[in-house]
Amino acid sequence: MLSRWPDSWHRRAHACRRLPTPYARGKDLFSGNPKLMSLFLITGGCGFIGSHLCAALVGRGDKVRVLDDLSTGSEANLVPGAELIVGDVGNPATVCAAMEGVDGCVHLAAIASVERGVRDWLGTHRVNLSGSIAVLDAARLRRVPVVYASSAAIYGDQVNLPIAESAPKRPLSAYGADKLGCEQHALVAGVVHGTPTLGLRFFNVFGPRQDPRSPYSGVISIFCDRFSQGGDVDIFGDGEQTRDFVFVSDVVAALLAGLKAASTEAPVLNVCTGRPISVRHLAETVAAVCGRSATIQYGSPRAGEIRHSLGDPHRSRAVLGLGEPRGLREGLEEVVAWLRAGRPGLRATGGSAQPIGA
Ligand code: NAD
Ligand code: UD1
Repeated sequence: MLSRWPDSWHRRAHACRRLPTPYARGKDLFSGNPKLMSLFLITGGCGFIGSHLCAALVGRGDKVRVLDDLSTGSEANLVPGAELIVGDVGNPATVCAAMEGVDGCVHLAAIASVERGVRDWLGTHRVNLSGSIAVLDAARLRRVPVVYASSAAIYGDQVNLPIAESAPKRPLSAYGADKLGCEQHALVAGVVHGTPTLGLRFFNVFGPRQDPRSPYSGVISIFCDRFSQGGDVDIFGDGEQTRDFVFVSDVVAALLAGLKAASTEAPVLNVCTGRPISVRHLAETVAAVCGRSATIQYGSPRAGEIRHSLGDPHRSRAVLGLGEPRGLREGLEEVVAWLRAGRPGLRATGGSAQPIGA
């Protein structure tokens, strides 16, 4: 089902009022009582992480409504059976209408590129922070709990590793500053308006359906694409910088568990593995998975680059009851299988998280 900026939604949005009974529709999320079927609003549900989350929700029998402007996401990634509203999360009326009747919201829509924030500070701010406030405001009016994507980018460069949630926040980018702003407005949503939230600080997420050809792609999708096509890879700097690469199914597990952990105290949790991987080791492992020797060109480091990013997963594992994260090599094999299958969208695989040929 597809709606494109329908006037009727704007008219209905004017009638956006507080619901009379507190959390009438979403109460099962807090009591923990099983409910036969819930309806979730997923902003950014046609994107990389969002499409995996939607597939998991539909797969367990829930209903999904997606709000996405298809700027980096694709309709080919809409999970079969979901409702799609093509619209801007920065438009409060659209968001309020999309929130109608839902039991919970997972807010993932964002311009997820640190580099774009450098070039278009105000434009990315409008989506990444004002859009998030629009979601929190609509959730307040509709009495809906919100789980939202924060980022490891809020930490900036840290001396003490691994980084626990209590570490000082020193974002070094507009993107990171806006994500920190989301966390602070989530606290306002809880304290002032009684809206339950949970923020999840994703570290470097990877998996199938992360577009390798976008100029803002993550390093894993770029390396897997290049090596599986027989090409070389570029490493920015000496390759000894490290990242905490977390597979997308582990992120989905955190989001699903997080739907029961939202509270008016506005908790925030890391989503990471606690395992540091250097970019050089990554290149060698990807090459091995592709059955090749690693051909690497070394260039200048990226400006403003964080040297080491490593999360402490203990708190989120305890709060969300998460198991051992997927191993790097196993995850890389799934990405390469997806690329070799011709990068199918979610629709082409019938809504299954598994790529064709995997
Ligand atoms: P993505 O670009 O694949 O997904 C973002 C989705 O939001 C896309 O479908 C896009 O079309 C949509 N969108 C963008 N602007 C919009 C707007 N104005 N209105 C409506 N929809 C809009 O990125 P992703 O990697 O799936 O990221 C999902 C979330 O996770 C983002 O909030 C991102 O900041 C966060 N995050 C991602 C990573 C990572 O490593 N991928 C790490 C930390 C945080
Ligand atoms: C990533 C996310 C960002 C998120 C952050 C959280 C992407 C595109 N960005 O930023 O949204 O908030 O993690 O931790 O997923 N590199 C190369 N060669 C390449 C590409 C990259 O050497 O061709 C290096 C980079 O210099 C960097 C590392 O690989 O050292 C990771 O880069 P990248 O995947 O772009 O992610 P981050 O910048 O860490």
